[in-house]
Amino acid sequence: MSDLLKKIEDRSAKVVVIGAGYVGLPFAVESASAGFETVAFDIAKDKIAQINEGKSYIPDIKDKTLAPLVESGKLRGASDPLVMGSADALVICVPTPLKKTKDPDVSLILDATETLLPHLRRGQLIVLESTVYPGFTREILKDQLERTGLKVGRGLHLAFSPERVDPGNETFTTKNTPKVMGGMTPECTRLAVKLYECFIDNVVPVSSCDAAEMVKLLENTFRAVNIGLVNEVALMCEKLGLDTWEIIDAAATKPFGFMPFYPGPGLGGHCIPVDPHYLSWKLKTLEYNARFIELAGEINAGMPNVVVQLLADALNEREKPVKGSKVLVLGVAYKPNVDDVRESPALDVIRLLRRRGAHVSYHDPYVASLRTNGETMTSQPLESIGGYDAVALLTNHRCFDYPTIAAQAQLILDTRNAFRMQRADFADKIVTL
Ligand SMILES: NC(=O)c1ccc[n+]([C@@H]2O[C@H](COP(=O)([O-])OP(=O)(O)OC[C@H]3O[C@@H](n4cnc5c(N)ncnc54)[C@H](O)[C@@H]3O)[C@@H](O)[C@H]2O)c1
Repeated sequence: MSDLLKKIEDRSAKVVVIGAGYVGLPFAVESASAGFETVAFDIAKDKIAQINEGKSYIPDIKDKTLAPLVESGKLRGASDPLVMGSADALVICVPTPLKKTKDPDVSLILDATETLLPHLRRGQLIVLESTVYPGFTREILKDQLERTGLKVGRGLHLAFSPERVDPGNETFTTKNTPKVMGGMTPECTRLAVKLYECFIDNVVPVSSCDAAEMVKLLENTFRAVNIGLVNEVALMCEKLGLDTWEIIDAAATKPFGFMPFYPGPGLGGHCIPVDPHYLSWKLKTLEYNARFIELAGEINAGMPNVVVQLLADALNEREKPVKGSKVLVLGVAYKPNVDDVRESPALDVIRLLRRRGAHVSYHDPYVASLRTNGETMTSQPLESIGGYDAVALLTNHRCFDYPTIAAQAQLILDTRNAFRMQRADFADKIVTL
């Protein structure tokens, strides 16, 4: 039995998670909870300080979960790369954004790996969790690791496991969401599966790193394309004079062969607007044009414009120009009940409304302040809602008091069907996507 396998089985393996964000911190908590001495390594010193004080900055991880792990010594934060040398398993969870040209930006993985290289030693398992294009682990990461002289498959173990965490999801967490695992060799897969099975309920091995990378991109491309389709259905329903939400709800009664997706003001978050571009970029290098991805991207990216035009039309009906109108954007997080504004379509809607001369404010109980166009906006209180010419509901947070907002607002553009219960009573002032 290999040393690593023994250490996994008796829980003496040391785990270092590189990048303690939305993905890395929940992972570190599960690993520590399973009994592994775990270090959350991050270049953000403020995050490390908070971890070591037992304070969580990730809403899904409560202090009461984190603090006992820190107190018991099972989990700690570190920003000194020396911790990597004593690790048996290293899990990389750093961001993988897009460049301005929409090409993959994998520089943070390369930087993190560069930091790891001086501490790499025989017997270690490295698992990449950051979303990448098919081939990255095999073509780029393996080469970078092997610059040390160590060889993957001969002493060094390397695998890719796509992360599926859904922030704010109270049903499916890191632990009970099945995890796909593809190693560079069958032994790499076996060891990585053994480790993950200690704290993830269901680990699903696949034949290679490339396959595991593609699984993630299929999942998120599936979402992006279906959201693109339903956004286009919303545009079609508007032309046909039909209620999109009624159509989707009725179609969703079909017990097979249909899965409802809902329109909205555009894609947001770190994954759905980003990941399909990783796939289409890779395919371009193989002289293939990923047409569904491009088309869905075009439709989804156009939704903030659609929202602004609907609002302008609704104001026009009331003989008000957009210019000079006071507009309150309700909800700026990219999805309900979270504080994350990365890639949020609210940023585009605010920018477009301002470009047309509207006076835009926002209210979001999860987002105290917001940077847009080099300016900081702060969340405004809801009390004076009647003083706005229009309210644009972009994120349907559960905590909003929809009946009161509907009663007090002058005009509401509802992009999420959040006011479905109020629509009949306030048909004259609620406009939907
Ligand atoms: N957030 C999600 O919902 C989600 C879901 C599935 C997959 N993913 C993928 O997981 C990866 C991580 O995303 P995230 O949301 O956790 O990002 P995040 O921004 O929340 O966290 C990343 C952390 O990495 C740190 N970091 C950056 N460079 C580093 C370095 N060189 N060394 C150490 N730490 C470094 C940052 O300081 C940050 O704390 C991305 O590839 C993302 O696409 C995210």
